[in-house]
Amino acid sequence: MKRLAPSILSADFSCLAEQIKTTERAGAHLVHVDVMDGSFVPNITIGPLVVKSLAGKVNMPFDVHLMIEDPDKYAPEFLTPQTEFVTVHAEACRHLYRTLDSIKKLGVKAGVALNPATPLGNLEYVLEMADQILVMSVEPGFGGQKFIPSSLKKVRELAALRAENGYGYEIEIDGGIGLDNIHEVSEAGVDIFVAGSAVFGAEDVDERVRELISRMEIN
Ligand code: DX5
Ligand code: ZN
Repeated sequence: MKRLAPSILSADFSCLAEQIKTTERAGAHLVHVDVMDGSFVPNITIGPLVVKSLAGKVNMPFDVHLMIEDPDKYAPEFLTPQTEFVTVHAEACRHLYRTLDSIKKLGVKAGVALNPATPLGNLEYVLEMADQILVMSVEPGFGGQKFIPSSLKKVRELAALRAENGYGYEIEIDGGIGLDNIHEVSEAGVDIFVAGSAVFGAEDVDERVRELISRMEIN
């Protein structure tokens, strides 16, 4: 099933839970949480306290995107009863196999994110164990950037590899997704669509979520 994951990076943090609930009521499926440390990426956002405080206040599962150095150290802190995915950046992991393995042992799904310039080949030996591959379609760090078209090639290759080898990962795309491109991206094989500014920057968030979902469906 295809799922929409609104990124709270573009939400109004003074009423975060309410903003998330609006997307939930409109049919969104996951809460995408962008964690940035000011070192791996040139921006600082939120940490485990915010994620923990949302648990039980909203219903959707959490999709935690760690844009941080040393994810091994901090991944366990993002565990809540609602955490579905903890995703780390391949570029931040020296021992990616071990990192993914330890996330899975925490009882949540393990994802790997790739920056736009990172080749898919780097993941060859972990594709079998990954629960999610997150294709960054902008350089990580900020919302509201323009979609990088070459990420579609990466998505198509991931979809083909999955079909050939029977892998179980879901393909997620993150960055520059909106009404104009969500259908094409969906056709390329994406399962989970992150959208920040397209959702929370809309005048009518509820209507925007419904439009995005209807365009991501493929018949
Ligand atoms: C960027 C973050 C994204 C961001 C997407 O580093 O990982 O999740 O919120 O924002 P939009 O949808 O505005 O490109
Ligand atoms: Zn993200």
